[in-house]
Amino acid sequence: MPPGKDIPKDIVQRDRVFYGRRRGRRLRAGMEALLEERLPELLVELPGTPDAMLDPRTLFPPETRGIWLEIGFGGGEHLAAQAEANPDVGFIGSEPFMNGVASLLRHCEDRGLSNVRIYPDDVRDLLAVLPDGCLDRIAVLFADPWPKKRHHPRRIIQHGTIADFHRLLKPGGELRLATDDMGYLRWMLARATAHRGFRWLARGPQDWRLRPEDWPETRYEAKARAQGRQPAFMRFERLDTGG
Ligand SMILES: C[S@@+](CC[C@H](N)C(=O)[O-])C[C@H]1O[C@@H](n2cnc3c(N)ncnc32)[C@H](O)[C@@H]1O
Repeated sequence: MPPGKDIPKDIVQRDRVFYGRRRGRRLRAGMEALLEERLPELLVELPGTPDAMLDPRTLFPPETRGIWLEIGFGGGEHLAAQAEANPDVGFIGSEPFMNGVASLLRHCEDRGLSNVRIYPDDVRDLLAVLPDGCLDRIAVLFADPWPKKRHHPRRIIQHGTIADFHRLLKPGGELRLATDDMGYLRWMLARATAHRGFRWLARGPQDWRLRPEDWPETRYEAKARAQGRQPAFMRFERLDTGG
């Protein structure tokens, strides 16, 4: 079938152009040193040969209970808090913004975490090399909303990424999404609920307004609330169907 015919536009438009920032204001010397000394130990590297896959279990000790992926972890405070609360889980965080990576490394040092690995780049390249059913949870929290219509193809949540998440999660696994942008909320819900392999775990009409207790606040959530915006929180179960 020629590209574009009968396929939603946002699937065929997926590309590997990253539109965010990789560097912000100059890092303090201590943070630069953390990047230089600690990142290589925690780095997730893509396989060097075409078509090779990366089994994420090889990144963690064999007794690790499960693997959770956080996409766009920002300053890393949510990821670090989850890693501390769940020491038997292996955490992979993906974030191309190096100031954020340095911040997560600082949290890992301060909390003495040994169950965190970092992919400091565009997550879509990582998703492509992970095998089916290798993840227990995926979180995408306050992803850039790209509110202008012409920028909607830049949104990380697309029909294609929802299909990737379904492929990568085990049955019973969980997808967590959050946003403070009502347009992006409708967009996310439309895409996640259009996929037959996910079930929205909302228990009542107000459910999405409440952040579950085992879901630490992120920096963007705090910023949104301070600016008077109501964040939304969604949990989806990966069903054993819809593949
Ligand atoms: C608005 S910030 C939210 C950060 C954090 N999750 C929070 O709630 O505080 C979105 C983050 O997603 C990251 N990001 C954007 N596109 C990404 C991609 N393709 N892969 C991984 N991270 C990405 C950005 O660099 C940015 O740090």
